[in-house]
Amino acid sequence: MKPVEVIKSISYNQHEILRNILDLHCGGNGPDVDITYSVGNFYGKFKRTIKEVRDDGSVVEKQEEFEIPQPKYKFDVDPQVDGCEKIEPWGNIPLDDNSVNVVVVDLPFVIGPRDCPSMRNKKPGSNVIGKRFSSYYPRHEMFESYEHWLSECYRILKPGGVLIWKSQPVISGGINLMTSYYSCRVAEDLGFYIKDEFVLVAKQRLLSGKVKNQMHSRRYHSFFHVFVKDDPKREKTNYWKREFVEKYNKEMEEKNKASEDVTNKKNEN
Ligand SMILES: C[S@@+](CC[C@H](N)C(=O)[O-])C[C@H]1O[C@@H](n2cnc3c(N)ncnc32)[C@H](O)[C@@H]1O
Repeated sequence: MKPVEVIKSISYNQHEILRNILDLHCGGNGPDVDITYSVGNFYGKFKRTIKEVRDDGSVVEKQEEFEIPQPKYKFDVDPQVDGCEKIEPWGNIPLDDNSVNVVVVDLPFVIGPRDCPSMRNKKPGSNVIGKRFSSYYPRHEMFESYEHWLSECYRILKPGGVLIWKSQPVISGGINLMTSYYSCRVAEDLGFYIKDEFVLVAKQRLLSGKVKNQMHSRRYHSFFHVFVKDDPKREKTNYWKREFVEKYNKEMEEKNKASEDVTNKKNEN
């Protein structure tokens, strides 16, 4: 039986996205490192429904079990399980330069003081996301931390190595913080090629009763970006810089000029 569906850029299931990234971009291998391991929710055995074509041409749906293998190296600033090593929020990943093939990162996206009453109290339902995933404060700490870890991942990855980077756009203080696009810009500046983008769509979200006047759409999605270090098969791109467009405009002008010259020569003969 042959699978019918192609790998799509959207899914409701983050494990399916991770499996697809490993298959499409990492030669089917599991990750070497996760620096935000927490309790390791990304890893284990999971199920998904797939469609396949039978030999007689009919299409059947079937349940498929798949695995996201545990990373060799597990790190977190606040280790929760045995075998996960502590790293410092502004420290280095304790691995050599150019030493690994695949790294996974899923940093916090909540903005808020870590010692505020709603983070400290044990009330069920209070600041659930902040308590579970930790937070940054003030806002710019998040951007600096993202930049710090992108640069550390770039350092430890081998050329051609893959960084699987989860990020979530967030609204804070009435401002839309485009954390995912910020990550892409920093990644490209460092030398990563943005090879792919997957969108994880949520069916449900916690809704805050505090918001009186809604100013932005409630985010129901997050991203998994696939950043490749110094991809030997690609020239470096930087979509976020004006020079990128100028370089291509110049190349197009030169190409057009060359083909005009050829036509003129033909007409002269
Ligand atoms: C969204 S959770 C990761 C969840 C994990 N992927 C899972 O599925 O179980 C974010 C993790 O980042 C860690 N973290 C918090 N502040 C950090 C910082 N400044 N630098 C790096 N990691 C941080 C937290 O300890 C937490 O484990």
